[in-house]
Amino acid sequence: MSLPFCVQRACDEQASLIKRVAALWMYRELCATDVVLTHARCDELLQQHSHELLAFAQTVDMAYSLAVNVRLNAHAPYSKFLVGCAVIDEAGSIHVGCNVENASLGLTQCAERAAITTSVASGNVNIVAVVIVADTTTPVAPCGACRQVMVEFGTDIIVCSRTTSNDQTLYVVDELLPSAFTSW
Ligand code: THU
Repeated sequence: MSLPFCVQRACDEQASLIKRVAALWMYRELCATDVVLTHARCDELLQQHSHELLAFAQTVDMAYSLAVNVRLNAHAPYSKFLVGCAVIDEAGSIHVGCNVENASLGLTQCAERAAITTSVASGNVNIVAVVIVADTTTPVAPCGACRQVMVEFGTDIIVCSRTTSNDQTLYVVDELLPSAFTSW
């Protein structure tokens, strides 16, 4: 990849508007932390889509607050580590999930997989972003199983992992799980 994913996606005329706006949002967020990431076409698109960008930023913040709330419903009596997740679909709807542990330990389901399952069950397989919340000093990176489940619904999904103090790290699924198994 010659340019960062978000730059490519933001400029991709074939992608849906929400995916391009999500990529622009990611670009803008990364520019705030990484001065190396500058691209004239993205700057132009940021101006052009300022309204959509504001709406998407608000959707991410709404997803974050829903994830913060659902996190409190986590069933985590073994690890005591509560995780909340909110998936944003192509229509801008939000679907939540929390981690659900089991005495067998191995049957534990992460918040990300729970939220993705909720999104799919409501008929929304076109996932744009996954927002994760945990009470850690730095944002958690999703586990390998969740990465594999995310990739099922798109290598271009944006993963926004935040702490309860609202620090965030952004990823694209493609970079979290390169050379993924997607078909046989
Ligand atoms: N967990 C998640 O729900 N998501 C993550 O991204 C990391 C881990 C859960 C699984 C388990 O219930 C607990 O956190 C400790 O691993």
